[in-house]
Formats: sequence, C-alpha cells, structure tokens
Amino acid sequence: MTISFDNEPKSNALRLLMDQYVAQSQSTWTPTQVVITRAKGRSLWTADGRRLIDFTSGVLVSNLGYAHRGFEKRMAKYCKGLPLNAYNMVTEVQIDASRRLIRSMQGNANAQQTLWAASGSEGIQKAMWAAMHHHPERNILVATRGGFHGKKGLAADVSGETSPNPNVRFISFPMGGDEPEAFYRAELDAIWNEAPDKVALLITEPYLGAKGSYHPPKWYHQLLEQWCREHDIPFIFDEVQACFGRTGNMYAWQSYGVQPDLVVLGKGVASGVPASVVVGRADVLGSLHYGEASDTFSGVPGACAAVCATLDVFEDEKVVAHARRAAKWLRKGLEALKQKFPFILEVRGEGLVFGIDIADAATADACVVEAYRAKTKRGVHFLGPLAGKVLRVSPPLTITRDEVDEALTLLSEAWPRIG
Ligand SMILES: Cc1ncc(COP(=O)(O)O)c(C=O)c1O
Repeated sequence: MTISFDNEPKSNALRLLMDQYVAQSQSTWTPTQVVITRAKGRSLWTADGRRLIDFTSGVLVSNLGYAHRGFEKRMAKYCKGLPLNAYNMVTEVQIDASRRLIRSMQGNANAQQTLWAASGSEGIQKAMWAAMHHHPERNILVATRGGFHGKKGLAADVSGETSPNPNVRFISFPMGGDEPEAFYRAELDAIWNEAPDKVALLITEPYLGAKGSYHPPKWYHQLLEQWCREHDIPFIFDEVQACFGRTGNMYAWQSYGVQPDLVVLGKGVASGVPASVVVGRADVLGSLHYGEASDTFSGVPGACAAVCATLDVFEDEKVVAHARRAAKWLRKGLEALKQKFPFILEVRGEGLVFGIDIADAATADACVVEAYRAKTKRGVHFLGPLAGKVLRVSPPLTITRDEVDEALTLLSEAWPRIG
C-alpha cells in the first residue's frame, strides 16, 4: 500500500506514480518513502519543501554530503573528453585511481593491484573468484555468520546465517557476548580439521552492519588473520560499507590492526557514482585470466574520476579527522537520547556509524516516521530499521556540529510523541 502523509500533496502524488511505474522490490522497506527534489550539504529537500537532515548518506555512500562543489569540479576535470564507457581501453584516469587507492593503503603490503566492479556485490564476487582461482584445489568458503556481502551470486551465498551453497561454512561473529578468543579459534580449527587443506578463503565484514551494527573487539579480526596466515588462506575484508573514513580511519583494516589480502571497497569510494574495487595481492588477483572478471561497466572513466575526486577532497579537507570529531559529538548526543527514551535499548557503533537498538519493530518504525515529521518544515531522515528494529545513524562524514545539534534536538522533541 502506498505511503502517504498529511499536508504532502506533491510527495503523495509522486509516491503513487512511483508505485505504479517502478517495482517495489527495488527498494528496501522504509516507512517514510521520502520524496526528494534537491540535496545539498547534509540536507535533503522534499517535494513539498521540507528540509531533512540526512542521517543516512544515501546508504553510506554520500560521505562528502550532496552537491559538493569541489568534488563535482574535479570529477568533471578528470573525465573531461573521455567516453562514458571505455571497454577494453586503457585510460590514464583508471591508472591514476588505481595507483592512488594502492597508495592510500600504505601500511598494508598486500595492496598491490586493483580489480574493478560496478557494485559492492560484484566486487565481493570478483574477490572470491580470485581467491578460488588462486587455490583451485580448495572448495570451502568460510564466512562470518550474520554478515551481509550483497544479494547477488557468491556474495549472497556467504551472507546471512545459512547458505544454499554446500561449500559455505559460517563461524561466529562477536555480538556483545563474552566468549573468549579460544571459542572462536576452536570454531576455525574445527573447519580446518573437517577438511584439511580445503579452505579457499575467509570473508568477513569489519563490523556487522546490516545485522544491526555489531562492532567486534580488535583481537577478533587479528585472530581470523592469524588463522588465515597459518593455512595460506586469502583473508577478504568487505569494506564496501566501511571504507573511506566511516570507522574513523580511512580504512577499517587500520581500525582493527590487520592487513587483509583483498579489501573490497564500494559505496563511498566514488561518492555516489556506481563503483566498487578490490585492492589486494597481485598474485591472487592475477590468478584470473583475460575476461574471467570482465563486464560492461567495471572501471568506467566516470567511476575512476569519481574515486580520484573523492580522494582529492579527503586530502584537501581532512575529511577523516573531521569525521572523528563529529563522531564524538554524535556519540554523546545519542547516549543522551538513550537516557531520555526508555525504548532505546542500546547505542552501538564506531566512527560515524551507529545503530540505535529500539525495543521492538513497531516502535523503531515510529521513530523513523516521527523523525521525518519532527517539525512542519524540518525533520531527520533515517532508512527503515536494520534487522527489524535498529536505526542506523550514518550521516555524511562532513556533518557540522550545528547540524548534529539540530538533528539531535529535533529527535528529542519528536520522539516523546511515540506512545
Ligand atoms: C558490507 C557490505 N557488503 C556488500 C554490500 C553489497 O553492495 P551492493 O549493494 O553495492 O551490491 C553491502 C551493501 O549494503 C554492504 O553493506
């Protein structure tokens, strides 16, 4: 049923047309179905002229905010004169973007080469193909339970709690319990003992995002890395969502003190232009031959230009350092909301990605709606809750202190309306 709100004639009309012409499966459920006509900085304007402070960055994509002039000017400069598609052609912009990504991973000696894709799941799939070709005699795929790596192909096989792929084995991911390191080590060893020399790869997210924002202790990823090293297993870090400053470092592998063999970047890597890229060991990526990871839209000039432009802005505006400051303001404000509203069970997070765990799904939906409707002319934009009842807070990394304060004030004035 099409969502509608009082006093939103234009948005309501467009929502109806959207439902008529675009299949609903393209979106995930969101109880507001926000209709926007303009975006700038950290603000979105609805068709009826309301301003929303964005707490989503799209879906952790628009890390620089919207209509960033510096980004747009550079982007235009980097792809000037180039075709939109340069299939099988060499462009300097792709070489530059690759070289700069590798350089940005100083501290990880495994960052040697890139392999491009057009979406996060495709990047994951390509990283997994490379690892599987690297060890063609191995067939077991180890993944962390509850992770989300995408909805397509192998990425879907290693997502969630169970898999249709009989070669997938899940290991536990810390979700706030107090299991010691030995517990996780025993799970890993059991897999190895079940099929010695058969594990082709291990893939994990740095933190469980879609599952509801669960952020492990550092030793967890270090343990996984150690186990991979012992058995020469490619260690794949899915930074599709975490890359480019989200965890308070440029990369989450820096936050967790590991050096993965393959790091998959997506979402914010190109500030909204569809792109993902695997950065990692040349010997592993090189085990795929001509055409084995090719497709129509990977590494197009616009995507590479967007990566270069994003890196420029990160350097010039010291975006990661700003994100760390903003993270402190936001964490403090979210903790204060938790004190005020008993329906907030927990606030989890790191850097500028938080999950507000709400008592139940109906209340979580109501939080999204009341945030949206906070004031006649203003509100705060959230996506539909994660895992049914966790609100994700992931504003653009460029959010200002005034915007954080304004959004938190709007929430603290709107949420008392929730019964
Ligand atoms: C950690 C992670 N990996 C992979 C993906 C899949 O990316 P895409 O939707 O671009 O295929 C996502 C998307 O939400 C993600 O959060």
